[in-house]
Amino acid sequence: MDLYEYQARDIFESHGVPVLAGIVADTPEEVEAAARQLGGVVVVKAQVKTGGRGKAGGVKVAKTPEEAKAAAEAIFGLDIKGHVVKRVMVAAGANIVEEYYFSVLLDRANRSYLAMCSYEGGMEIEQLAEERPEALARVEVDPATGLDLAKALEIVKQASFPEELHDKVAPVLVKLYDVYTGEDATLVEVNPLVKTAEGDIIALDGKISLDENADFRQEGHGALVDQEAENPLEAKAKALDLNYVKLDGQVGVIGNGAGLVMSTLDVVAYAGEQFGGVKPANFLDIGGGASAEVMANGLSVILGDDDVKSVFVNVFGGITACDAVANGIVQALEMLGDSATKPLVVRLDGNNVEEGRAILSEANHPLVTVVGTMDEAAAKAAELAA
Ligand SMILES: Nc1ncnc2c1ncn2[C@@H]1O[C@H](COP(=O)(O)OP(=O)(O)OP(=O)(O)O)[C@@H](O)[C@H]1O
Ligand SMILES: [Mg+2]
Repeated sequence: MDLYEYQARDIFESHGVPVLAGIVADTPEEVEAAARQLGGVVVVKAQVKTGGRGKAGGVKVAKTPEEAKAAAEAIFGLDIKGHVVKRVMVAAGANIVEEYYFSVLLDRANRSYLAMCSYEGGMEIEQLAEERPEALARVEVDPATGLDLAKALEIVKQASFPEELHDKVAPVLVKLYDVYTGEDATLVEVNPLVKTAEGDIIALDGKISLDENADFRQEGHGALVDQEAENPLEAKAKALDLNYVKLDGQVGVIGNGAGLVMSTLDVVAYAGEQFGGVKPANFLDIGGGASAEVMANGLSVILGDDDVKSVFVNVFGGITACDAVANGIVQALEMLGDSATKPLVVRLDGNNVEEGRAILSEANHPLVTVVGTMDEAAAKAAELAA
């Protein structure tokens, strides 16, 4: 989960990373009040989960509360790479004399952490990495030993920081690493990390991505979820403990096992090409024990998606045999009653397949079509959706 800048700022502060005062605001009037409260020069910053806000006009300096309000009026509603600005942060203005770059992230390929640091911040880091790779230090950080002061000093040296800054910048990097490990993040990025006219080192902009696999031990992280931006179907699925991802096609997909569901998505997309580009509407893995209740929960999420025109239930009977799944489907349709309105194409195979098919043909539900193979079923589902 990616966080907003203001959330990263708060987390930085709680770990002792030097940051400036910042107040979130949802209206130009709130911005004006926040600017008055902060006093002096402020910067009004769009809060969107994408980069390049400054270039898009989403970061504006204001010398007075009135100017801040005017800046906010220009920023609210701005579309930055498809993200519409609904909230801003009013930050205290810094007297910047230098801008640096620092990040620490999970380096999956090397099964390690990677710290990146540059004395030359300001410009886009992707551009710097491409044009002047030597200016961007890349230092592996062993998760077992971590980023201590000695490692931080190694990083700032390699990033060509002048000697007199080493002892000022290195402790900030240690604190940022504390954020990274303490919060179970997969990315902590500061661009820019600045030196002010007063000689302070401050994290002026922060990006944090959290590892959701660690939610169980990060109680506070639940509150960081952006309820408004969350897809309501995904929220419902999450509440029902289903592995569901909304996609933008028309064929609802239910299967048992993530691998099977993923290949079902491919098969549906391929079959859909013959029907004007029909695509899968979601990923839904109901897992091993496909009980009637789980099936009903899964179907209710998928049928609640207005984009869905047909549903493909693709089950390979293993430990949970096909007859149990077939009973699950029949009972689920009973439970859903009139709310089940879209055609279901069912493909069963594997353990007890004959019994499973017999159960479905006996139930003879008007919405259900049983098809023998995965390819045929995908074609049928795509045709029905088209
Ligand atoms: N509080 C502040 N005081 C003074 N200048 C600021 C402040 N915040 C940002 N700036 C200036 O604005 C520039 C852009 O700000 P920031 O890094 O937050 O946004 P961005 O880089 O455009 O957005 P993103 O990181 O999403 O790409 C900074 O490099 C800095 O020069
Ligand atoms: Mg930035």
